[in-house]
Parts: sequence; structure tokens; C-alpha cells
Amino acid sequence: MNRLRIGIVSDIHSNFEALRAVCWDMRRQRVKIVYCLGDVVGYGPFPEKCLKIIKKISSRIILGNHDDCACCQVGIERRLNDLALEGIKYSIEKLSLSDVDFFKKLPLQATIKDFDLSLAHASFSNPAGWDYVDSPQKATEELKKTPTRICVIGHTHVSYVFGNKEGLYNELPEKLVLDPEQKFLINVGSVGQPRDGDCRASYGILDYAEDGAVFFYLRQVFYNIEKTKEAMKKNGLPPFLYERLFRGE
Ligand SMILES: [Fe+2]
Repeated sequence: MNRLRIGIVSDIHSNFEALRAVCWDMRRQRVKIVYCLGDVVGYGPFPEKCLKIIKKISSRIILGNHDDCACCQVGIERRLNDLALEGIKYSIEKLSLSDVDFFKKLPLQATIKDFDLSLAHASFSNPAGWDYVDSPQKATEELKKTPTRICVIGHTHVSYVFGNKEGLYNELPEKLVLDPEQKFLINVGSVGQPRDGDCRASYGILDYAEDGAVFFYLRQVFYNIEKTKEAMKKNGLPPFLYERLFRGE
């Protein structure tokens, strides 16, 4: 296999400025393949624009819970909190019927055998339950059921790398060598609404070397939050939803 860099993006949440910055960074990082882990819409001001870009750049797209709410549109009041609900109602207004149809056909998970890699939005053990794998205990349990050596998710909007032997990596080096003896669950964070306490747009790169080594890079990219805020304000989206972008929470 030739050296190959795969970009993993998740939780774009209609934040066009953040997605634009990430696309630019992926080009600069020589990413050749992009996989999207879902939640393209919801919260932000440009759902249709973000979906158009994601469809153009991604080889695989996984369904997120907000995308699912945008296409099923039934019982969403029970599934989302009030702020998320306002965001999704706005997305539904902006999306076309063909966008909605597109979401209906998306899978909950996918495996790419060539890269020993699996993709899901929330989890592999119960993808339609939209569980949050947000603790070392849950990650340990999850890794017992993951289908491949490297598994990537989003959904929590908080990035991490978890190995089945090493546990949680507290400090991530710029370039992390994925130990071939371990299985990994990697959360790439969120492009459009990071909650790491860092306002930069987050995504991941998996770098497959010719000799079989695999490296992971967590990329965090500055973008024009002010522009996203202005668009959200103009379109009457709740202030909390744009104020949180500046705090990365
Ligand atoms: Fe999300």
C-alpha cells in the first residue's frame, strides 16, 4: 500500500466557516480520502451548504443523530433538548427534499477492510441508541465489541484516543504512532461545535505508511467564529448556540 492520509471529520453542525477552514487544512496536510462521521446539520446557520460540501469531499458518510432528526422529523421533541431542537427546526426549513432523502439512505456504521478501520457516529455496540462513549469504562466496553483495530467516532464533540491496553492518552503528541499490538477507539471531536474547551475546529488524520505503520494526528484549526456568529444572529438562532462557539463548549 502506498502512503495515504485519511481525514476524519465529524459534527460539522452547519458551521460553514469551520468546515471551510478544515477543508483548507486537509488540502495543506495532503489528505487524499475523507470520511464523515455525521451530524452535518443542526445548530448552525448553513446546513444545506455544509451538506453540499460534505457530499462532494467525502468517500463515506455516516448518519448522525441530528441528521436522523432532520430526516425522520418524528418525535424530535423527545430526542433533543430545547436549544438543539431550535437548531434542527432551522435545518429542516433549509434542507431540500432530496437532502432529506439523502440522509435517509445513510448507514449507521461502516467498515473499510483495507484500512482495518470502522466508522460510526456515536458507538459500534448500539449505534442507533446514540450512546455517549465518554468515559474510560465505556470506552473499554466499547473496544471489546469494535469490529476492526482502528475505530473512529464523534458525537460527544470531545476528542480522545483510547487504546485497549494503554487506556486514555492524556497527552497527545503531534504525531501519535498507533501501536500495532493495540485496538484503538478514537474520537475526532467536532468541526463545527467543539466542546474540548478549545474553540478551534477539530478533526483527525490517519496516516497509513508503506510499511504498515499507522499514525494519528489530531488537527485543531482556527476559523472565523465571528462570521458564523453573525450568520446565526441574523437568522434568529439562540444566542447561547453562538456564544458557546467562542468558549469551545
Ligand atoms: Fe453532534
